[in-house]
Amino acid sequence: MKIGIITGGGDAPGLNSVIYGVVRAGLDRFPDCKFIGYKFGYRGMYRNEFKELTRENTSGILHRGGTIIYSSNKDNLFHYPVEENGEIVHRDVSDIAVENLRKEGVDVLVVLGGDGTLSSALEFAKKGVNVIGVPKTIDNDLAATAATFGFNTAVNIVVENLGRLHTTAESHHRVIVVEVMGRDAGWIALHAGIAGSADVILLPEMPYSLEKIAQKVRERESHGKMFTIVVVSESAKEQGGQKVVGRVVDDSPDPIRYGGVAAKLAADLEPLVKNEVRSVNLGHIQRGGEPSAYDRLLSLRYATKAVDLIEQKQFGHMVALWKGQMGAVPLEDVFAGGNKVVQADDELIRVAKGLGISFGI
Ligand code: F6P
Repeated sequence: MKIGIITGGGDAPGLNSVIYGVVRAGLDRFPDCKFIGYKFGYRGMYRNEFKELTRENTSGILHRGGTIIYSSNKDNLFHYPVEENGEIVHRDVSDIAVENLRKEGVDVLVVLGGDGTLSSALEFAKKGVNVIGVPKTIDNDLAATAATFGFNTAVNIVVENLGRLHTTAESHHRVIVVEVMGRDAGWIALHAGIAGSADVILLPEMPYSLEKIAQKVRERESHGKMFTIVVVSESAKEQGGQKVVGRVVDDSPDPIRYGGVAAKLAADLEPLVKNEVRSVNLGHIQRGGEPSAYDRLLSLRYATKAVDLIEQKQFGHMVALWKGQMGAVPLEDVFAGGNKVVQADDELIRVAKGLGISFGI
């Protein structure tokens, strides 16, 4: 038995924990099993660049952030930039990767990734590769599972930073606008905003009104609260406005990178309130450092379930969490309902409203 592992997309706390779990559980189940980790996700599969993973060289990585086999969120082998006659053109190079798997004798490919990485995994499954997906993303936007690993750690990081920002906001009577990640889903903003005592939470799912935010700042002032913390999800936008694009990464399956909404909002809001309005973008800090205990456990449960699926030869599936239990969903069902975004009737929206948190609407 030879198991290939790749980590694709943005890094997330827990990737190394899954690698650790797959190698440990794999050796327990198949004592002669060999493992290779392709470097930088699918790119390594195309270039046949990998490192052997052993009990020894995966020792001590359970708690480490990042990924020891590196990752990339711009290497789509079905639309890959190659140089031809001095020009960059895009080609489907996936067959080269499949051939590399065959040459190395890889029986199963365990793919750790979010929607972009897993949609390529589905295409490889259609080409006959034995694939098992493991759902990773700090955004928590995969509809086919209740939780992706990385999300809990990101929320904890934001909550810790909101605590720090509260002290400055309070000391200087400032409004501080804190930008968090999440792509087109507001889960990080919603969870961290509530747990971190934000006064205003702005979600991509609910375009905001500047005037409503200013009203909340004034209302707080009338109760003697001279500061306000606003948590804004990176792709939130003003009613009738546009999402703020930070950069465009060519060759990425999803080239838009959001960024800058907090700075824009701070500038727009300042003329409407008495306070100085400052902005902070927490950025990649949210993906950094050690996974939380919850994410370590979730990663190890996913890893064990992935090895179960290998043992049962149940390929073409993604491991998933439903009602607290580990399960598996066919890869084609992972994308059936689109991404999981915050619905207006989500229980946490009610919780937040009951606490007096404004959504700027
Ligand atoms: O999907 C994870 C994520 O961190 C998103 O929240 C964010 O929009 C994006 O990746 C940022 O990507 P990059 O690391 O390329 O800036």
